[in-house]
Amino acid sequence: MPLLQTKPHPDGLLQVLDMGCGTSALGPCIYRHSPLPVRVTCADISPIAVRIMQEHVQTKAIQPHNLSSWLEFVELDCTQLHKHYGCSSVDLIVVTPRSIV
Ligand SMILES: C[S@@+](CC[C@H](N)C(=O)[O-])C[C@H]1O[C@@H](n2cnc3c(N)ncnc32)[C@H](O)[C@@H]1O
Repeated sequence: MPLLQTKPHPDGLLQVLDMGCGTSALGPCIYRHSPLPVRVTCADISPIAVRIMQEHVQTKAIQPHNLSSWLEFVELDCTQLHKHYGCSSVDLIVVTPRSIV
């Protein structure tokens, strides 16, 4: 992804949102492989999906390519993004309709 090779956000982290992440590996893959520091937020309205992903990542102990990167899973209705982000913006929103983990 070309954006992930560009200059980071002023706070030093590229803000990435995986919207409706379900149990997709996309967000964790970006976190794991991005050479630049990223804050990857995997958001889903389903508390079950969020819990499964939190447990999965803890079990796998995924390490980021860049040690400054962050990965988080949040229960969030993506029509209500302001509740999580307030006035701040994101650099990249990814959405996959369905993927295979
Ligand atoms: C077809 S699944 C795709 C999941 C994942 N992106 C993938 O590629 O496997 C759609 C996901 O969107 C979530 N979703 C539906 N409406 C949502 C909303 N308003 N806010 C956040 N997530 C939502 C569902 O809970 C579900 O996990």
